[in-house]
Amino acid sequence: MQKLKIHGGYPLKGDVRISGAKNAALPILAASLLTAEPLVLSNVPQLNDIGTMLKLLTEMGVTTERSPEAATLQANNLTSLVASYDLVKTMRASILVLGPLVARFGEARVSLPGGCAIGARPVDLHIKGLEAMGATISIEAGYIHAKATKLKGARIFMDTVTVTGTENLLMAACLADGITTLENAACEPEVVDLAECLIKMGAHIRGHGTDVITVEGVSTLHGASHSVMPDRIETGTFLAAVAAMGTIGGDVRITHAQPRSLDAVIEKLRGAGVKIAFTVDEIHVSMHQRSSAINLRTAPYPAFPTDMQAQFIALNCIANGTSVITETIFENRFMHVQELVRLGAKIDIDGNTAIVHGVDKLTGTSVMATDLRASACLVIAGLVAEGETLIDRIYHLDRGYDHIEQKLTALGAKIERVNE
Ligand code: UD1
Repeated sequence: MQKLKIHGGYPLKGDVRISGAKNAALPILAASLLTAEPLVLSNVPQLNDIGTMLKLLTEMGVTTERSPEAATLQANNLTSLVASYDLVKTMRASILVLGPLVARFGEARVSLPGGCAIGARPVDLHIKGLEAMGATISIEAGYIHAKATKLKGARIFMDTVTVTGTENLLMAACLADGITTLENAACEPEVVDLAECLIKMGAHIRGHGTDVITVEGVSTLHGASHSVMPDRIETGTFLAAVAAMGTIGGDVRITHAQPRSLDAVIEKLRGAGVKIAFTVDEIHVSMHQRSSAINLRTAPYPAFPTDMQAQFIALNCIANGTSVITETIFENRFMHVQELVRLGAKIDIDGNTAIVHGVDKLTGTSVMATDLRASACLVIAGLVAEGETLIDRIYHLDRGYDHIEQKLTALGAKIERVNE
């Protein structure tokens, strides 16, 4: 099994280019199911999750062509309307094919994703929304079986903000008869990117980026070209890594980014003493002192993202002072804490709150990645820890970080992939 070996204590300096956003690319790839014409995508990140979504679509009969940062998909000859457990269990976002399949083909059989390391993560709101649009849904042998002759526009109120739930229903509504309003919709930039791609495909959508999205259904969508937005979580992870360098030093220019999608993260980093300046697509971040502890609370966009919580715990571990981190989105998203403790961190957990007491230094040892963002937090900890850190189970990291060790090596980090 592959591991990452990091020798900590080297400053981060230079330029890093941000890849396309995983969480925007996944729903956009699924949107290819809504039309018989080609969908041509650029800035597609090279990640295992993207490979999984392409495999899922190919198994259904979608023609896919992939070059390093691009993909062309055409769903003109579907052979199956099934998303099997084998693929769905490796990537929950596979649920994103449900809405498009029912909307265009009138039927879908998608495996229930099951539990997840960070929480229960039900998909009840995806199902209720489709039922409100007239689909008949049954759960058979672990699969969601959805049928509808023709979806109908509906007013759908979601009592919890759900990102992929909003995306699934948004895609379904594009081909429904009449008008759909999605209320308490997710405002995440990835939802906006999906909506912009759907509009290029001929969809009539208003209000994306707000919590009420209105869709006027059309009878067919057509092909389009779209460039996937930059990954704000990858960007935030590099920002947090530079911030964590403290007196080791960090001075990095982050290019091909979308700084405006990171307001909450940038504000917190400035509060920690990090120097940040940005233009429309670049961020200059520098740090040459120990950071100050910063409290935060995760919540749906535009508040602080849960996908940045673990990286900020790593930063707070070696900050000056004590911080309180509250996780409000997922009930079990502190698995990284016990691994950080192995590196010398002092953290208490009380329910959904972590109290992080900053220590002077971390010391490298063997740790285990438990989920995608937890892996990123361990990489940050390894970069600042004294000596060598060995991170096991890095397949989690490969799901969502495009060439992370090459990008960090180019910035001066001592990090390598080893087979053990
Ligand atoms: C997406 C992101 C993930 C991010 C998360 C929250 C993708 C592919 N993944 O995941 O990286 O961490 O948003 O920003 O975009 N919920 C329900 N019922 C549902 C759906 C969700 O109760 O039907 C709950 C979840 O358990 C969770 C909360 O809603 O507590 C938010 O989850 P959701 O936004 O749906 O997460 P994902 O879309 O799976």
